[in-house]
Amino acid sequence: MARSATIHVCTACGHETPRWLGQCPGCGAWGTITEERATKPSGGRGGKPAAGSGARAGGVPAGRPTRLRDVSAPRVPRLRTGLGEVDRVLGGGLVPGSLVLLGGSPGIGKSTLLNTVLGHLQGAGTRTLYVSGEESAAQVRLRAERLAAPPAEDGGADGPPVGLAAALDVPILAETDLATVIATIEEERPEVCVIDSVQTMHDPDLTGAPGSVGQVREVAGRLMEVAKRLDVATVLVGHVTKEGALAGPRVLEHLVDCVLQFEGERERTYRTLRASKNRFGSTNEAGVFEMRGVGLVEVLDPSARFVGEATRAAGSVVLCAMEGTRPLLVEVQALVSPSELVPPRRVCNGIDRNRLALVLAVLGRHAGLSTSTHDVFVNVVGGVRADEPGADLAVALAVASAARGIVPGGDGTGEGAEPPLPVACFGEVGLTGELRGVAHADRRLAEARKFGLGAVVSPERCPTLRDALRTALPRARKGAA
Ligand code: TYD
Ligand code: MG
Repeated sequence: MARSATIHVCTACGHETPRWLGQCPGCGAWGTITEERATKPSGGRGGKPAAGSGARAGGVPAGRPTRLRDVSAPRVPRLRTGLGEVDRVLGGGLVPGSLVLLGGSPGIGKSTLLNTVLGHLQGAGTRTLYVSGEESAAQVRLRAERLAAPPAEDGGADGPPVGLAAALDVPILAETDLATVIATIEEERPEVCVIDSVQTMHDPDLTGAPGSVGQVREVAGRLMEVAKRLDVATVLVGHVTKEGALAGPRVLEHLVDCVLQFEGERERTYRTLRASKNRFGSTNEAGVFEMRGVGLVEVLDPSARFVGEATRAAGSVVLCAMEGTRPLLVEVQALVSPSELVPPRRVCNGIDRNRLALVLAVLGRHAGLSTSTHDVFVNVVGGVRADEPGADLAVALAVASAARGIVPGGDGTGEGAEPPLPVACFGEVGLTGELRGVAHADRRLAEARKFGLGAVVSPERCPTLRDALRTALPRARKGAA
């Protein structure tokens, strides 16, 4: 019975076969055949209308379009998650009945984040449910105990106090069977439900193993149906592949309302949460968290942290970046060292490799700083990603400062204060060696001024990269590295 209830469909051309094949006989593509439930409620795929019940053949009544102005759109209040950073990334809170996909590599803190969110919601009187397919109920309890522990000597300067006692009030279901999970949601009627993770859930009607493309798609589809029908805000936890893409079919990203990525390096304490798709808000916002012994804590003023921790040595500058609508000061570090490799190494963290290549080429061509025989390493500190053209100048200054062994700012601009304040900068580097303006210059400047970094090197001050180097590295001698 179970076997005949499924078909195998090519995701590329739609060809159907009764059993799984490595190559699609229809279009010749490899590895595109996935298992699907044979009886789709919409019946769109089969082509043949279901016999018996289908009485709508022929004269189908036409639909009636409505002017957008006349469409009723009640403003549903959003659910506050208790973590301001999460609310901001979601666009003002969790929308009831929405489906959110939270991706991130293993151990980054997805479960911890969602435990915290559910704890806050439960504490505020919202009905919640935590479905764990990965960990036993006892394991989840142990984590909740850490979150619930009163904040001891952990003297955090910012972020709310942890000690989230309500974390232990969250109802948990340790289950991987999709039918049981859905029945439980229908019975318990939570307002917010977390499925940790979508890859561990499985539908026994499909023969594919949990986590296979067909299974993940089916599981997500069924959960979405329940979410919309019962108005349950559902958060699906999704694993991330080695390449950083969300595992499972891309169709999952189309299906859900919001895709959140939880990023950072496991060895570091900083984590960023950002939306790569959001039907209810902007995708520009990012939240910064810190993993402490007592759980995840919001970093309310990340600029203060990053500037305070800046090294103030050769090869280090502060970038005035924008995280959505919020300015953020982060340290960019570079190391330039003689290479034995041809071509030499270019390693970067937190910036795009191609932009690094571009900046190095412009430095070589227009600023007389060749790195062709040197390895270049660039790192945005704290695991932050600075994926914007405005980061170019910081990369250029960090590399030039590292290559020449000169501390940015040095003693030429400082008022004798020792150690000198870090040099802040922003701007896009053009191919002809000019500096180009970037969005929100005033906000970036204001943020730098807030931390006493008044003399910001920007396109407004320095029209070319050469000018910027002269300003930021005052003792710079002319010539190659
Ligand atoms: P986890 O949330 O389980 O990650 P994920 O669900 O993304 O796989 O936890 C990640 C790590 O965080 C874990 O290795 C231990 C650490 N951690 C802390 O440092 N402090 C804490 O309070 C908790 C709960 C976890
Ligand atoms: Mg987990």
